[in-house]
Amino acid sequence: MRKSLLLVIFHLVVGTATILTPNCTIPDDLNPNQLTVLISGYSTHRLPLLRTLASFYATLPIISSVLILWGNPKTHPSLLTFPSTSSTAPIILIRNPTRSLNHRFHPHPQIRTLAVLICDDDIQIPSLSISFAFRTWQSHPDRIVGFFPRSHELDLESKSWIYTIHPDKHSIVLTKMMIVASEYLWKYTCIEEGSGMERARSVVKKERNCEDLLINFVVAMDSRKGPLLVGSNWVRDWGDTRNEKDEKIAKGKKKVAISEKEGHRRRRGMCIGEFHKALGIMPLRYSYGNFVEGVKEQGLCQKGGKLVRCDQVGRDHDQ
Ligand SMILES: *[C@@H]1O[C@H](CO)[C@@H](O)[C@H](O)[C@H]1NC(C)=O
Repeated sequence: MRKSLLLVIFHLVVGTATILTPNCTIPDDLNPNQLTVLISGYSTHRLPLLRTLASFYATLPIISSVLILWGNPKTHPSLLTFPSTSSTAPIILIRNPTRSLNHRFHPHPQIRTLAVLICDDDIQIPSLSISFAFRTWQSHPDRIVGFFPRSHELDLESKSWIYTIHPDKHSIVLTKMMIVASEYLWKYTCIEEGSGMERARSVVKKERNCEDLLINFVVAMDSRKGPLLVGSNWVRDWGDTRNEKDEKIAKGKKKVAISEKEGHRRRRGMCIGEFHKALGIMPLRYSYGNFVEGVKEQGLCQKGGKLVRCDQVGRDHDQ
């Protein structure tokens, strides 16, 4: 009895230790022809969608494995079950030891491919768009390839960085859905002392935000190029903030929703400024245009109890 209890404790300690301490040697035999999917999950109410998405990725020939990075350490293990069959890519659950969003870019030993597809648990994209984005990345392996563009900009009046959306240029793509070289996970996590990365990561940890901005910094510092935007005929964004806004308007809290959105933008601008200070440079570069016609960020919004395209509800910027 006592022996088995000791064994259990031993396993827990070892399990946590392997996650907390990264192996900072980049493997030299990573597979160039497939992708590892890294899906971040946190909310148990989205588990049904997460299971559907994970199974979808697992059936694609270009996917070697699907890692589910579960960000809520308090979720009961019995809830976190995922279907896996021998005929598809394996679906592997990894529980982050803390809520820090830096874990999103942990260089897990299970990552055996040259590139990773990083995504949220509420974004759906057709397989052809994923293949197209992967081919685009293969021609530009030093850039991030993504679907959701954003921009940084210097506000001349306040002399501070702001976070925004430009219609014709972008310097940031969001981790809602992106492909990036796995080596940047090692760089994000392992670059230490003197580089300012430790301080930048502590901003992410403290704010519980902006990890997606920091990975854009890490890649741009190395490549000195902006991210590439690819398009898709459709992208389903179940987490589109316009849904939340609609819910709040329904509850008569419109003002709260608007100030939250502004607060979000301000916090993101503040992160850009903090990263600039910590790293001592502003590496973000603009890119123009995109790699296919008709890129539209298309959310699905609730309207009269039905899901419709958000542009049928009314124009508004999210994030
Ligand atoms: C760290 O990773 C390298 C490259 O994959 C591997 O050769 C080495 O065995 C790993 N070390 C440990 C302690 O796991």
